[in-house]
Amino acid sequence: MELREWATHILSANRIEDKLFDPSVLSDNSPGSPLFWNEPTRPPGMQFSTHTRKKDKLPPFQEHHHPDKRAICLHRFAGHELLAVEIMAFALLAFPDAPRPFRMGLANTLREEQTHVKLYMAQMERLGLKFGDLPLYKHFWQQTAYLTCPVKYVSMMSLTFEMANLDFAPHYGASFKRNGDLDSYELMKQILHDEISHVRFGMRWIQKLKQEDQDAFELYKESITPHLPLKRARGFIFQEDHRRAAGVPNDWISALKQT
Ligand SMILES: [Fe+2]
Ligand SMILES: [Fe+2]
Repeated sequence: MELREWATHILSANRIEDKLFDPSVLSDNSPGSPLFWNEPTRPPGMQFSTHTRKKDKLPPFQEHHHPDKRAICLHRFAGHELLAVEIMAFALLAFPDAPRPFRMGLANTLREEQTHVKLYMAQMERLGLKFGDLPLYKHFWQQTAYLTCPVKYVSMMSLTFEMANLDFAPHYGASFKRNGDLDSYELMKQILHDEISHVRFGMRWIQKLKQEDQDAFELYKESITPHLPLKRARGFIFQEDHRRAAGVPNDWISALKQT
């Protein structure tokens, strides 16, 4: 299946199975002209809800002993993963002229995000919740309005949201483990493992796509939207080692650590 066809299929799907459809063979012979998708179609019951600060709050860590509260966390994370799937499909349609290895790498990442949705769905179902039972937010999708080139895409997705997950995933994983939920802990471990490679993808491509005399970190700061302060690229507990594993340079790590 062509990348363009696959991305269109994902963004226009009204069944979760189609959002998570993974063709066995992908090709990129006719990427077409740039297309900036307005808003993804969602399955019934999974449309974007209006965001309010109160509803937005995740259960606090001290409530994680309760399976229902852990299920709420997993539901939220699955919502983020589904948005990642859709934003990556958006990028495949928006940047047909990006280097072929960039597009194939992006497609591989998209596949892993689909797997993440499935893994979260399995765990939340074990805890008694179905994907779509709780509100789903537009959240990261709002940023697509600013995604005008691949550098802006990697700056927003890989180097901000996915970078922050290098802190959040192990933090939540440790809490699930403390509360005896080893399956959810294993899931967060898998997420962290994959997320390190997703951040590495972003690091590699910002280096490749920048001008020779340009500093990658400066370019990153110029490329994230005004709504995204630097601190969105980190969680409560800063994990230096995970960033090193993803190839984040020392000066970048120090700057983020101080935010
Ligand atoms: Fe993911
Ligand atoms: Fe990711």
